[in-house]
Amino acid sequence: MWGSMSERTPFIVGNWKMYKTVAEARGALTVFRDAVRNIDGVDCGVAPPFPALETCAATITGSDIALAGQNLYPGDEGAFTGEVSAPMLKAAGATHVIIGHSERRHLFGEDDTLIARKVKSAVDQNLIPILCVGETQEQREADETAEVVTAQLGGGLTKVKSAGQLDLVVAYEPVWAIGTGLTATPAQAQEVHGLIRDFLGDFLGATSAQETRIQYGGSVKPSNAAELLAERDIDGALVGGASLDPSSFAAIVEAAAG
Ligand code: PGA
Repeated sequence: MWGSMSERTPFIVGNWKMYKTVAEARGALTVFRDAVRNIDGVDCGVAPPFPALETCAATITGSDIALAGQNLYPGDEGAFTGEVSAPMLKAAGATHVIIGHSERRHLFGEDDTLIARKVKSAVDQNLIPILCVGETQEQREADETAEVVTAQLGGGLTKVKSAGQLDLVVAYEPVWAIGTGLTATPAQAQEVHGLIRDFLGDFLGATSAQETRIQYGGSVKPSNAAELLAERDIDGALVGGASLDPSSFAAIVEAAAG
């Protein structure tokens, strides 16, 4: 099903960051799974911390909920203390992986060269990358948003440019809107989503550009999800804080279903 839609089905992913023990993850995901069971017309997924991946995979068995890693290290295995590889994520049940989240870029110094290697590693293992891009407040004020976002996209995709039809999700997450309660207006977000789709068209070709779902992320909550998702090029959401509570996460999925 993934990536083969010509009509883009909205895709809502909860990024749990460094929250929830294994037991807490199982409890929250059980409530969420049951709450979204009968909601049609929207895809959803969750990205728990690594230790909870396998438990979450078991919890969603038989549902349509996707499972994502929050990060990976390029390379199948090796002496890289503290890191997790694409084959390990797959074996734990993940189908997707978040790459280049702004917290990775800004707190852990990840640059586009490393991010490109991570994207390639995910694609090589048939894990669908959720590639995050976004400008800081200073960059927006300096009118550099388009330049920053397209440089991050082009940089992140360099090693998979010729991979043919690419199963990819892009998440536009303005850094100033992440965890701050500030949300881009639907018009501000649509403007960047439109330029991301144009860029993908030039870089990967028209088919990939039309099929790629572009999520918005940054303080998405039940009260603002519908208006953001009503924009033409906003195809879903990457949700941090509001995904931790299963009922607010389910309410966002419900809003996306329309
Ligand atoms: P937020 O985080 O929803 O808490 O702003 C979004 C994200 O970082 O993916």
